[in-house]
Amino acid sequence: MSFDLVLFGGTGDLTWRKLMPALFQAHRHGKLPQDGRILAVARDERSDDEYRAFIKDRFAEVEESKRPSDEEFARFAALLHYRRMDLSQPEHYAGLRRWIEEERPGGPADTAVLYLATSPYLFPVICEQLGAAGLNGPRVRVVLEKPLGHDLKSAQEINRVVRSVFQEQQAFRIDHYLGKPAVQNLMALRFGNALFEPLWRRESIANIQITLAEGLGVGTRGDYYDTTGALRDMVQNHALQLLTMIAMEPPSTSDADAIRDEKLKVLRSLKPFSPETVARDVVRGQYRAGTVDGQAVPGYLDEVKVPAGSRCETFVALRTEVQNWRWAGVPFYLRTGKRLAARDAQIVVNFREVPHPIFPGTRQANKLVIKLQPEDGLELHLLAATGGGNNETLSPVSLDLDFDKAFPSERVGAYERLLLDAIAGRLNLFVRSDEQEQAWRWVEPVLDAWTQDTVGPRPYAAGSWGPPAASALVARDGFAWAEEQ
Ligand code: BG6
Repeated sequence: MSFDLVLFGGTGDLTWRKLMPALFQAHRHGKLPQDGRILAVARDERSDDEYRAFIKDRFAEVEESKRPSDEEFARFAALLHYRRMDLSQPEHYAGLRRWIEEERPGGPADTAVLYLATSPYLFPVICEQLGAAGLNGPRVRVVLEKPLGHDLKSAQEINRVVRSVFQEQQAFRIDHYLGKPAVQNLMALRFGNALFEPLWRRESIANIQITLAEGLGVGTRGDYYDTTGALRDMVQNHALQLLTMIAMEPPSTSDADAIRDEKLKVLRSLKPFSPETVARDVVRGQYRAGTVDGQAVPGYLDEVKVPAGSRCETFVALRTEVQNWRWAGVPFYLRTGKRLAARDAQIVVNFREVPHPIFPGTRQANKLVIKLQPEDGLELHLLAATGGGNNETLSPVSLDLDFDKAFPSERVGAYERLLLDAIAGRLNLFVRSDEQEQAWRWVEPVLDAWTQDTVGPRPYAAGSWGPPAASALVARDGFAWAEEQ
């Protein structure tokens, strides 16, 4: 199979931090189809060799195990090309079309993947120009990187333009959390095994917690982040996508639309927010100075490019419900934040306690922990008679599956997985426009309520688990976050 991959935003952060390392890993693992070209597109003038040197330098900033040796880079660099483009100029798109359709040795590739790794305000103009240049034929796929809009209206506008040029099956909306191995394992766990499905419902499950915690602060992205905030940056997309994967009904096939139809139903079943329920069920916070990993770190308001007095939230915890027969009354708690105690992303499924305890002491209920980060794996927490002393007293034990150890050679990073899927035309792990719009529709009342609220985000110390109100939110239902159990 042959492919051309065009990276708009070819000198930007996303390209050199995530996409190039992912492409290099795919190349190193022999997973990238053989006959491929990668074309980076950006504003300034450079030769192919200058661009290759630029990328080579940037690899110095990538995690060591993902850096190429000189020899490896030389082989990878042979795929890399560069082209200057002014994104508003039709003749530059005509030139791109010639590069793709006429200037390829051996004729056009089986597929051309156009990856928009630019600022999203450029998406409409790029899509329109691609359409005008005829770069929207059936072999073309367009990959859209988040943020896809900052509210429902702007997301709908982007989708309107994309749809006017491309078919839905040509549009690959990235949510890189869907590419994480743990998410695919979640699908395998739920729909490849008969064991859990009968338990996967309100009768057996007490509550579900999704935590996406980061130790890092906003770094140098203060200006972007301040106009975004944790709700738009992490909840509208990553956290909700994970929720759909947990809560969806079994799809009838593994086809992309069979899966996405079920995910959409979950989004439509989420309990809508009103101003009253936002005040009760959503906690927003902002970090103050503190200590993370033994290092003193500044508060959000002292980060570079953050405006004085900002009320941007760097933490959100919320409680919701999926209003259908399977999940009625089961709380789903979502929590995400910067500068929290650890980098820790996990989904905890807390099962109900035994209906009638006959053992004294511990009454801990079973829980299944799906770990996304820093390692991915599965833990099933059980109670067992461990033998020592009084055999009637049970102790907690866990069945632990570390996927990195179990399948060491097969681990594929999120961007690598998603880039390979885009090249292969597999849409399963990409977000459909209706899902994305429904997710905006659900978060918007929260954004609206916050604009009316004079209190602003609650402070929390960097290195903590967020404002105490986040614990109170869960405690109100008689539960506790995983680290407090
Ligand atoms: C991005 C957000 O989508 O996800 C960032 O814009 C965040 O703010 C990042 O840091 C987290 O991704 P990961 O894969 O490092 O958990």
